[in-house]
Parts: sequence; C-alpha cells; structure tokens
Amino acid sequence: MSFIEYGETIKEGDTAIVFLGHESMFPVKVQHGGKTQTKYGVIRHSSDLIGKRYGSKVTCSKGGWVYILHPTPELWTLNLPHRTQILYSTDISLITMMLELKPGSVVCESGTGSGSLSHAMIRTISPTGHLYTVEFHQQRAEKAIEEFREHRVDHLVTVKNQDVCKMGFGVSGIADAVFLDIPSPWEAIGHAKSALKHEGGRICSFSPCIEQVQRTCLALEEHDFTEINTLEILLRVYSVRTISLQIPDLGQAAGDDASADWDGGDRSNPDASRANLQQGTVPFKSAVPPREMVAHTGYLTFATKSLF
Ligand SMILES: C[S@@+](CC[C@H](N)C(=O)[O-])C[C@H]1O[C@@H](n2cnc3c(N)ncnc32)[C@H](O)[C@@H]1O
Repeated sequence: MSFIEYGETIKEGDTAIVFLGHESMFPVKVQHGGKTQTKYGVIRHSSDLIGKRYGSKVTCSKGGWVYILHPTPELWTLNLPHRTQILYSTDISLITMMLELKPGSVVCESGTGSGSLSHAMIRTISPTGHLYTVEFHQQRAEKAIEEFREHRVDHLVTVKNQDVCKMGFGVSGIADAVFLDIPSPWEAIGHAKSALKHEGGRICSFSPCIEQVQRTCLALEEHDFTEINTLEILLRVYSVRTISLQIPDLGQAAGDDASADWDGGDRSNPDASRANLQQGTVPFKSAVPPREMVAHTGYLTFATKSLF
C-alpha cells in the first residue's frame, strides 16, 4: 500500500521511488519537464514517468533501466531525508502491533523527527483515524508539515510545534495510543495519560539507554499504568550459502559405504564432486545467520492506561 491518496499511475507532483537495486534507490518529485540523472542515463519525467503505472520498468537514455515504485511508508523510511535518527520498519512493525493500531485509531506522537514512524502510522490509521504529532524543533515541524502535504496525507495529521514535556499533545481524552521518542519520556507520561481516552489506551516509549527505560517505568507506575513491559527486537536475516561440510570419519567400512552414497551434492559437476570427496568435504547448501548485524536500536516500553 502506498501513500494513501496516490493512484495506480504516476502523476505530476507525486513523490516516486527510483529503484536501481536493493542497495540503490532514491525519491524523486515528479514534475512536467523535469529530468533525473541516473548512472543508466536521464529519465525524462513528462515522457518516461507521467501517466505510467507505478511498478513500471523505465528505460533511461543510456539504455539501462530502473523501476519506478510507489512510495510505501517502508520505502519512504529507506529514502527520506534524515533530520534526526529515525525508526526503521522492524521496530515500527512491533510498535504498530503492540499499540493495536488500526484504521480509525487516534494516536499522539512526539517527537515527529524525520517523520519515518509518522508516515507508517498514518497509513495504518487511515482513512478515518488521526495522528497528533508534537515536535519542538521549529524547522523539523515545518518540514514535516510540508512533506505530509506533498504526500497528500495532511488531512490525517496535525503537527504541533511545542515542547511535549511542558505543553503536552494539545488534546485530551481522545487518543487510543501514545508514542514517545524523546530523550526524557518520563517527563511526558502525565501528558500522555491526559491525552489517552478515559476508557484506557496503550502507550509506547522508545529509548536507546536502559537508564531512560528505568525512569520511564517508574513514571508509568506513578501514573497507574499497568502491563508495563520492555522489549527489544533484533532482526536476523539468513542468507543461503554453499558451505563445505567435513565428511565424518565413521571408520573404514562405514567410510567406504558413506563415500559410495555421497556424490558431493553436485550432479551437474561430477569432477568437482570427486575433488571434494578426495578432500574429505562435501558442498552443502545451508541458510546461515549473519556474522555481524545491526543489533540494538532501542528498548520499547509498552504499558496500558489503568481504567481505575
Ligand atoms: C529521534 S527523533 C524522532 C524520530 C522519529 N521517531 C522518526 O521515526 O522519524 C526525536 C525528535 O524529538 C524531538 N524532541 C525532543 N524532545 C522533545 C520535546 N520535549 N518536545 C517535542 N519534541 C521533542 C527532537 O527535536 C527530535 O526531532
């Protein structure tokens, strides 16, 4: 699913994603007469983009081609201009589930930052929900307003330029969920409680450091929140590799049998298989976890507003 009001075809004013490969893509603002340079040559917006379906393969002036993709919140997260640290789709998926967000939900957020989480939440709560997002840095608040307008989701979001710890969210008793990504979330818990609807609601606070989590949990307890839980989500992406497996030494007789059974795994290349067997190894397709990975991003503390 895309930015909510975007159609099937590319229009003037759309933000589209130029996809050269998984490690190489960028956003482009589509304009009549506009040109975009890529390593495969120029893309001419009027003839190559406008009126084409999202997902089309577009041939550039030097003959190479790219895909032009719908700006889903997931692709926007990977391509947005960073003004701050941002949340990525792995954490966002858990936040969305644990805050029980759905079409029609009313959500309060602070800070807006670069709008990565905001775009994902707006997509989830559309078409009838609303996001109230508070950012005390004036330029960041203004840039977020501009992007929401450009992406035609501004009717689903209200941006407030104020300090959430002093002024709160500017709404009371209406939110289904509150999300905090600020350095001192414990100072905003009282405001979060007032913003949440009287029948309850869920809160989540993202903090990179455990000392922030401790202070936030204490504040949540003081304000009678229940079901306080802190989670961390680690993503391990497996890759498929051919590895060399040592043939076990099962003794002479068993070894002869084993060698007779093993053909080295590669029937298309018997020479290679024989060479492997002589070395006492056999090639084996396996799914292996990464040796290094992006591990800790932050702790996600969830709680429920008490009804009593
Ligand atoms: C890490 S960024 C948020 C990133 C955002 N979650 C995203 O995915 O793009 C934190 C933001 O909170 C803002 N902020 C920090 N303290 C605040 C406060 N007391 N009131 C409002 N905004 C605040 C900062 O200016 C910064 O833009």
